[in-house]
Amino acid sequence: MKISASLLSCDTAYLGDTVVELERAGVDFVHLDIMDGHYVENFAFSPKTVQDLRRITNLPLEVHLEIDNPERYITAFAEAGADLIIVQLDVCRHPIRILDTIHKYGKKAGLAVNPGDSFERIKYFAEYVDYVLLMSVEPGFGGQKFERSVMGKVRLVKTLFEECDYQIPVGLDGGVSLENIGAIREAGIEVVVVGTALFSQEPLSQVVAAFKGL
Ligand code: DX5
Ligand code: ZN
Repeated sequence: MKISASLLSCDTAYLGDTVVELERAGVDFVHLDIMDGHYVENFAFSPKTVQDLRRITNLPLEVHLEIDNPERYITAFAEAGADLIIVQLDVCRHPIRILDTIHKYGKKAGLAVNPGDSFERIKYFAEYVDYVLLMSVEPGFGGQKFERSVMGKVRLVKTLFEECDYQIPVGLDGGVSLENIGAIREAGIEVVVVGTALFSQEPLSQVVAAFKGL
């Protein structure tokens, strides 16, 4: 299982240093939540942050667009150096078109599905999706409680993907902690996005190792 470090809850006064430390600690991806105060009642990161971090790390940068009208900002984040661009399925009016646009920039395309939303539409455009991110909290904030009902959805997604022979990795985002990581690993999740639980203990290298089950 891979670890994607969500920067939302880190001390952004030391953002660059933190990313360097995360790379040394062995995380697999850096997860940047993009929020504009419309889709969610919060603000976070921008193309400039992605561009600046691109200079100082070799880690793949994943950009999670928690914004309305994501189609307007694909170019900006692709040009800033994102490797994977994840859009919220609930705001995609034309999912195939937006996934296609992301691919035209040579980037991987992901779809995020909220806790109360069905993932089943994905079967209609699975060939355009490189990554499915199941939200285990409502989008908008770090440090929220893990919605346990998502574990049922994980089983359904895994079954569908197996039946249809889709090779699409599945991630979980929100409320992931050392208490629930065992169950998540057993469920066959490929990637966990971890924010608060990563930055609430020291040293980072030990916390990352604990999440990886080392
Ligand atoms: C929520 C974000 C998550 C968040 C995860 O809107 O998409 O990526 O940063 O943070 P924790 O691990 O604190 O729930
Ligand atoms: Zn996220």
